[in-house]
Amino acid sequence: MCPIRPEEMSLDPWNVTAVAQKDDRRPDEPEAPTTQTLQAPTIPIPQTPVVQSLQTPPVQSLPTPAVDPPEAPQPLPVVATASEEVPPVRTIVLDRPPAPVAPPLRERNPLREPMRSTAGPERLRLDGVGITYAGKPAVKSVSLSIHQGEVLALIGPSGCGKTTLLRTLNRLTELTPSAARAGEVLLDGEDIHELPDTTLRSRVAMVFQQPNPFPMSIFDNVAFALREQSRKRPRRRELEPLVVDALRRAGLYDEVHDDLDRPALRLSGGQQQRLCIARAIAPRPEVLLMDEPCSALDPISTGVIEKLIGELRRDLAVVIVTHNLAQAQRVADKVAFLYLGDLVEYGTAAQVFDEPRAQRTRDYVRGAFG
Ligand SMILES: Nc1ncnc2c1ncn2[C@@H]1O[C@H](COP(=O)(O)OP(=O)(O)OP(=O)(O)O)[C@@H](O)[C@H]1O
Ligand SMILES: [Mg+2]
Repeated sequence: MCPIRPEEMSLDPWNVTAVAQKDDRRPDEPEAPTTQTLQAPTIPIPQTPVVQSLQTPPVQSLPTPAVDPPEAPQPLPVVATASEEVPPVRTIVLDRPPAPVAPPLRERNPLREPMRSTAGPERLRLDGVGITYAGKPAVKSVSLSIHQGEVLALIGPSGCGKTTLLRTLNRLTELTPSAARAGEVLLDGEDIHELPDTTLRSRVAMVFQQPNPFPMSIFDNVAFALREQSRKRPRRRELEPLVVDALRRAGLYDEVHDDLDRPALRLSGGQQQRLCIARAIAPRPEVLLMDEPCSALDPISTGVIEKLIGELRRDLAVVIVTHNLAQAQRVADKVAFLYLGDLVEYGTAAQVFDEPRAQRTRDYVRGAFG
């Protein structure tokens, strides 16, 4: 290392102290310009609104040539004459807040034959149903009815209580120890809490978000609930027509008929979900509950399931939870919009999507939040 000589110690080639006092520059920065060059010329800032800045500047603001005024009248400067030929000024005036235009709504129900008027008898009735988890409300006093021949879509943002409400309809919510219920759910006029839970769950069957086939054959999956319901173990020959019928109604039979003994877990995701639907509908339930049944599926499998829902609803009532508003528009006859556990709006799909009564519903179906 090279020692520092005494004269170097006193040397301050950058005059750091002085510079620091002046402008805190680093030593390697160029010297600041003089005060004169730093001073910007004083330019008056126009006090006009921004909107006027789009207008052509008035002729008077153009620099006037520094010449003595002529004695005789002079022709106007070219620019002044030309100002009359300047294209019309475009002025943007915001005199009111912009009004967003609602996107065109898709045509509903292209997948099904017209069945709007075929609503059958009331199957389920909810009267003041409320659910709390550890005292915290998840669903608040919901009352509505669900009819055979109809698809009811439960819609609403995440956490608004759709799944909780759905699971309450076949008493799956009560499997959560912290859950407490208020109100009544009637199945064909009978309190569901009076029914044995296996009976209830075969009459009000459920299809979950993720396909969940049992690790057994296709045949045994569909026959599962049928065997559960029988007092004595039925033979395969007796079950076969029922299994085939359920697979046909679920739109899967043609794809699997050559080998019903193959493991269900070897089916594709869309096939597995249809198998779960077949398993759910085999005991001929009155109500089919579906919690986002297509959320794990590709668009083609989704289309197959939506078509299936349209066909299944001839024989039973369908309640479907979906985040997909386009899907709700395609498949639902009735729509219930939940928000923070409240049933904000319940009506026909046409009314809820086209003429929502509540502002919050309007915002939701138009995609303002989700
Ligand atoms: N097992 C549970 N224990 C405690 N709280 C629960 C339980 N299940 C749901 N919750 C709470 O109840 C509220 C409603 O939940 P839920 O799952 O019904 O909403 P969701 O509308 O189905 O939401 P997502 O669209 O996200 O599925 C939420 O605040 C949630 O945290
Ligand atoms: Mg849910």
